Amino acid sequence: MITAIKGVNDVRPRAKDMFLDSAVWSKLMAVVQEVMAAYAYKPVWLPLIESTELYTRGVGTGTDIVSKEMYSFTDRGERSISLRPEGTAGAARAYIEHRLSREDAVQKWFYAGPMFRAERPQKGRYRQFYQVGAEFFGVADAAADVELIALLQLLCQRLGLQDVRLKINTLGDAESRAAYRALLTAFLQQHLAALCATCQARAAENPLRVLDCKNPNCQKLLEGAPDILEALTSASRDWFDRYLQLLDEQNIAYERDPRLVRGLDYYSDAIFEMTTTALGSQDAILGGGRYDGLVESLGGPPTPAVGFGAGVERLALLMAQQDQKSVGPELFVIPMTPELVGRALALTTQLRAAGRSVELDTSCAKIGRAMRRADKEHAQAVLVVGEDELRTGQGSLKRLADGQVLPCALTAAGVTQAMHQLMAQQP
Ligand code: HAM
Repeated sequence: MITAIKGVNDVRPRAKDMFLDSAVWSKLMAVVQEVMAAYAYKPVWLPLIESTELYTRGVGTGTDIVSKEMYSFTDRGERSISLRPEGTAGAARAYIEHRLSREDAVQKWFYAGPMFRAERPQKGRYRQFYQVGAEFFGVADAAADVELIALLQLLCQRLGLQDVRLKINTLGDAESRAAYRALLTAFLQQHLAALCATCQARAAENPLRVLDCKNPNCQKLLEGAPDILEALTSASRDWFDRYLQLLDEQNIAYERDPRLVRGLDYYSDAIFEMTTTALGSQDAILGGGRYDGLVESLGGPPTPAVGFGAGVERLALLMAQQDQKSVGPELFVIPMTPELVGRALALTTQLRAAGRSVELDTSCAKIGRAMRRADKEHAQAVLVVGEDELRTGQGSLKRLADGQVLPCALTAAGVTQAMHQLMAQQP
């Protein structure tokens, strides 16, 4: 038997691991589309493969994503290609390539699709995983960031997620970061011997990443580390103050985490993550922030930008944990004999054209078996079509939740009316 490779998933109907149930994914994607439309973000479909250089320059060679986790290969034309580990660098590449800064600088994009990272697989962490994300190009004001946070709050609310915490921090502009790096490096050098081996290596190359080490000893020691607020230029401080003020004005609750740094090099100013206690160690459901330098570093004109990426598997896991109800068809139609299938199909065709979601049991199984399938599919109601029903033109709709039965005329209009009635008096 050929099995799937390590760290990838099959999302499918009624998967036992409910976060892989395609009904949960469909619901999630429908909500994402609605919320993105409400905030006037437009969909983009960008390539899954890009030149490796895009990520080495865009995400940074010192990051785990680029140095350890990329799926890279040489193609037939001897070019180094990588499967995308994230969506922001590709979006910036497309923004530059289509010269949008000249024509239509303000662009609000969203996307959904697979990303690839060769990480050690565990619950909530996969090698092929899905992200929904958004990128907002062309606005430097903190209002763009806060609007994005408001969008994310609406998204979490519509998905029914509970106990989601918003953590924020700032990385300031390049000058602030350089000043902070110097302060932090001096602090780390004093405590080098007490740090774990990974942090010792990072202290020289990428000192900011030391801040998010999970080792308890390092965490304790870092409590005494300098705070980036001490190193912000006045412009960065003003920008961050306005961001905080806007968050307060919108009544958005947040926690400032001075050790939040994020694992990608392109960020500047405000960064954020949303976490939940319900997911165990892989607790980040989404993350993002401002990246004003990325477009320019990839050869485009200076372009302010902000965005986020959310892990679909993690969102789906939370949805599955918090809302056990799977959504099935509104109606499950069971013809009693093979001879009646054609008539039942004609009726379901009309119902489907009228916008109802209907499953027809074309297998002509025994009634008991068909009823069990209707149950498994989480159908809301069942309609049995037998000789008697066709002769009299009268059938009855049975609500599966409580067995309540309602007579109806066996026409599309009659069935629709009975469905409305049954749904209106849900138990
Ligand atoms: P990221 O924090 O690397 O940011 O990924 C965003 C989210 O993707 C994470 O919070 C997590 O939910 C999910 N994720 C990451 N790696 C995995 C994995 N191996 N398995 C399952 N889920 C995972 C970015 O990718 C940035 N591009 C976000 C962004 C957009 N920043 C600005 N614009």
